[in-house]
Amino acid sequence: MIKGAQLYEGKAKKVFATDDPDLLIVSYKDDATAFNGLKRGTVAGKGAINNRMSNALMQRLQQRGIPTHFVQELNDRETLVRRVDIVPLEVIVRNLAAGSFAKHYGVEEGRVLQTPTVEFSYKNDALGDPLMNASHAVALGLATPQEIDTIQTYALRINEELRAFWRTCGVTLVDFKLEFGRLRNGAIVLADEISPDTCRFWDSETGEKLDKDRFRRDLGGVEEAYREIMRRLTARL
Ligand code: TMP
Repeated sequence: MIKGAQLYEGKAKKVFATDDPDLLIVSYKDDATAFNGLKRGTVAGKGAINNRMSNALMQRLQQRGIPTHFVQELNDRETLVRRVDIVPLEVIVRNLAAGSFAKHYGVEEGRVLQTPTVEFSYKNDALGDPLMNASHAVALGLATPQEIDTIQTYALRINEELRAFWRTCGVTLVDFKLEFGRLRNGAIVLADEISPDTCRFWDSETGEKLDKDRFRRDLGGVEEAYREIMRRLTARL
């Protein structure tokens, strides 16, 4: 596989072309941002951890019938993925109230929700990723009703799989963000990443945060938390 030109640089990843038009190389950076890029930093070792964790989880999901963009891990930081057209929605699944949900509805962080929830944000940095309901997404032509239905179904199945897996690692999966894309044939697949950047992970016993909230909230121990959550994952693979 020949690595071609850089097509895109995001806040945490770069994307490169390959000699196959249907395949791309994703390269994970150690850069971290929060609050729509207002807060910036680096987390040493994060790129490699996010790459390896996301790949391990996507392979697990794929084995359980959820299609993903994952093709092959190339090295510590780089992965070969299927080229998709990203559906511009951030798909957030929650099991416990935290973050923006706790704030919007005035509930304490850590309240166990009676059922898992799925919500969408419009993936648009200029607008600050505003919340968006399914009807708005369809009205704006961001996704068809069938695509929304598939995305919701996959998101809840992914939640069940991931929640059960993390429980065996002594970790509560509080909430997480997914992105989906369309293959050339229109099929919806899971894309982007599943990592401590995009999930809230709490130690099941102590409640200690083992994710990017340590960076967002200046809690310290960011690198250690990324290493610890990776250690828990590796021990169960
Ligand atoms: P929130 O409570 O701030 O809305 O975040 C919900 C989940 O989504 C949490 O696990 C962190 C993740 N997330 C991202 O992956 N990217 C983002 O830009 C934001 C705001 C949250």
